[in-house]
Amino acid sequence: MLIISFPGQMLHLVMGTLRSLPNLLILLLIFFFYSFSAIQSDSKTNQIAGYGYDLRSISVDPSGKSLTAELRLIRESSVYGPDIPNLNLFASFETKDRLRVRITDSDHQRWEVPQHIIPREPPPSHRSMPEDQRVQVDSNKTRGPEKQLVLGLAGSDLVFTLHTTPPFRFTVMRRSTGDILFDSMPTLVFKDRYLEISSALPADRASLYGFGEHTKKSFRLKPNDTLTLWNSDIAAANLDLNLYGSHPFYIDVRSSQPGASGPGGTTHGVLLLNSNGMDIVYGGSYITYKVIGGILDFYFFAGPSPLSVIDQYTKLIGRPVPMPYWSFGFHQCRYGYKNLLDLKSVVAGYAKAKIPLEVMWTDIDYMDAFKDFTLDPVNFPAAEMKQFVEHLHQNGQKYVLILDPGINVNNTYDTFKRGMRDGIFLKRNGTYYLGKVWPGLVYFPDFLNPAAAVFWAREIAIFRQTIPVDGLWIDMNEISNFIDPSPLNALDDPPYRINNSGVRRPINNKTVPASAIHFGNVSEYNAHNLYGWLESRATHDALMYDTGKRPFVLSRSTFVGSGKYTAHWTGDNAATWDDLAYSIPSILNFGLFGVPMVGADICGFGGDTTEELCRRWIQLGAFYPFARDHSAIHTIRQELYIWDSVAQAARKALGLRYRLLPYFYTLMHEAHVRGSPIARPLFFSFPEDTETYGISTQFLIGPGVMVSPVVEPGNVTVNAYFPAGRWFNLFNYSQKVDANAGKYVNLDAPEDTINVHVRGGNILPMQKPEMTTELARKSGYELLVVVDENGAATGEVFVDDGEVVEMGGEGGDWSFVRFKSEIENKYLKLKSEVVNGKYALEHKLVIEKVVLLGFELERSLGMGSIYMNGVEMKRVEHGKIGRFGIAQIEGLSQLLGE
Ligand code: NOJ
Repeated sequence: MLIISFPGQMLHLVMGTLRSLPNLLILLLIFFFYSFSAIQSDSKTNQIAGYGYDLRSISVDPSGKSLTAELRLIRESSVYGPDIPNLNLFASFETKDRLRVRITDSDHQRWEVPQHIIPREPPPSHRSMPEDQRVQVDSNKTRGPEKQLVLGLAGSDLVFTLHTTPPFRFTVMRRSTGDILFDSMPTLVFKDRYLEISSALPADRASLYGFGEHTKKSFRLKPNDTLTLWNSDIAAANLDLNLYGSHPFYIDVRSSQPGASGPGGTTHGVLLLNSNGMDIVYGGSYITYKVIGGILDFYFFAGPSPLSVIDQYTKLIGRPVPMPYWSFGFHQCRYGYKNLLDLKSVVAGYAKAKIPLEVMWTDIDYMDAFKDFTLDPVNFPAAEMKQFVEHLHQNGQKYVLILDPGINVNNTYDTFKRGMRDGIFLKRNGTYYLGKVWPGLVYFPDFLNPAAAVFWAREIAIFRQTIPVDGLWIDMNEISNFIDPSPLNALDDPPYRINNSGVRRPINNKTVPASAIHFGNVSEYNAHNLYGWLESRATHDALMYDTGKRPFVLSRSTFVGSGKYTAHWTGDNAATWDDLAYSIPSILNFGLFGVPMVGADICGFGGDTTEELCRRWIQLGAFYPFARDHSAIHTIRQELYIWDSVAQAARKALGLRYRLLPYFYTLMHEAHVRGSPIARPLFFSFPEDTETYGISTQFLIGPGVMVSPVVEPGNVTVNAYFPAGRWFNLFNYSQKVDANAGKYVNLDAPEDTINVHVRGGNILPMQKPEMTTELARKSGYELLVVVDENGAATGEVFVDDGEVVEMGGEGGDWSFVRFKSEIENKYLKLKSEVVNGKYALEHKLVIEKVVLLGFELERSLGMGSIYMNGVEMKRVEHGKIGRFGIAQIEGLSQLLGE
């Protein structure tokens, strides 16, 4: 970057600051005239355009990593209340890949997401900066040509620019490409309960994904969409409405600039860390945030690959919690199981049909009058229930129950009495707030109160003495309320109405009132979207404390960073073909949000499913990270054994899932250490292939397994997109595509089949399919080595006991092995690098079989021979698939950890 010229007086001041900086950090702090080429502002973006702030002073932290600036209101806007006159901006390179830009009221403390939810660096107060480090900006002098102040950091690809010409705006640029990633536009609005900020976007090159939770047809966001964030018990079967969780985060994949030589696909991420209700208007050439409280706290993640953005994002918000190995098995649930006999017959039905059933679930039906921590004494009697769970455990199976947050107000109910004694319920107007859910009148534990987490943990521990559940399902935690509270004060009726439920319905509807008050005098208005997060943490911690094992929690409501504690399912979908298809964008979104353990209700929740829909749904659902069949009360039964054709399709699809369990679990480890989604959009592996940006009906498991389901009735073919490479069908290894460039291929998809392909270049760790993960884990390993055109492939496997709390923790009782194939002296060699062999050696884990796929027969390479860590393997069987060879060797006893 070139410094062109400096405007008079300020030069010395700025240079003075520059000179006082330590040398090790390179700060680009420069005022200069710049030929301005950013995208033009679009007047559509802002209904109160023309207002904004100007810059009064700037000071740079001596570390050179951050600056603060004072902003002053230029002209007031007339709607949504008075403007805040003085703002403070803080821009900071927290790491080389993460830039934070925070704007808030200079004079008054405002609500922010609490530190214990997302720990982050406390920003300095601008006023605390020594006078001599403050540079006054004279707005008279800054009129005229565009002037800028630039903050950059050595090694960072992000550049932050303050545009000092009034009205103030800022931009974030990618240094390596010059691409403007965010351009705040000169229309900042900052009021007590209405904040508005926009960014220009290059409509022809930006592809945006994220912002949840919503059900969408298309994974890529479509222009002219308003995305509302306000946690609500609105069924997932509703398109485009605000649903159960709030994630004000998006990624933007940029195709290359006209005339640019480099490949496109550079990706960045943007988080607005704010828990208040908001509308986000995406207009193609702009994005506008309209937020009803809190502050503007933006984080920009540099990427440049999609995976690195999620790595950087989850580093800030918290890495996904490891899930127990068993949770990757198949789960069966239903709202409306009548009694214990019903449960037993379902378990038996699966065994008889030889369909793997790992986890049996029960919905609110088990409770006595829908009260948490009780059992219906007639239909689910405690002693028999305990025996049932013990029996499941003996069989290697697990049991999960639901909990709702509302505690029935009932003086004969011990949980309620203890809650009253502990004083942990949510209040409004000085008394406990009375809501209504399944059990009738309820109080809600206030999870912002640390004592509520203690209460919750105690109730869980007491309950587990009666029935030793393996995991917990927390529902209705948006919070769902069956009554619409009437307004009490101004909090209940903010001046700007977000597009709640698509009809700008009051924010109080079907939830607790915004005027309710949490522990620490925090209003529900501000903390509403945090409830599910807080309950997830309390439930996770309770289970961990009580069992000493890795918890499994499934939460309906989520917020930024929920993946630290919980898995998620997408809520109440309908048994329709549309919802089968839309489950893919929903699941991919939660991968972006750092909640990789996610699934949709297989076969559909609401309404009656059909044999064909359920068959296609289990074929798809078998490859969701979290695979659970669940249905609503009064619908027809949809356990997988009900129809023969569904059972057959389930055995086949789940059979492949169970073979892939070591791969899924290794991806869980990658998710835990780097945030990588388990289910990924195609562009995560092929960011340069722009065709992948619009694909919403296919996805990847990890880097190289692609799932291409049938999502329409009557179809027995599927037109699937294959990015460049060699792709092999994972069921029968038949090669389907060998392409230099991506192409669409019409695949057969007979009724018992889903198309799942692996791409050349990948080594998949596999085991045998069994009826439980416990049995599958005992079988020998198989390595499926699928080489690319150069004979190269890589893969890895992570193993531990599947339920130790930390995954890959300090005790070292785990194993991690990398595999690599390459051609050496015309021979294809397979090598392993043991990062930690401890667990695998102690448990004598053995690779029994290697299958080598994808080498070309006509190239007279000795690829049919398999060398494993330098030793040639004997008894190799050869075969041929098209022009490719397959070599396979069984009966090996190669130690995995050696
Ligand atoms: C709503 C949940 O979304 C659904 O899965 C559950 O079956 C019902 N509540 C009843 O608990």
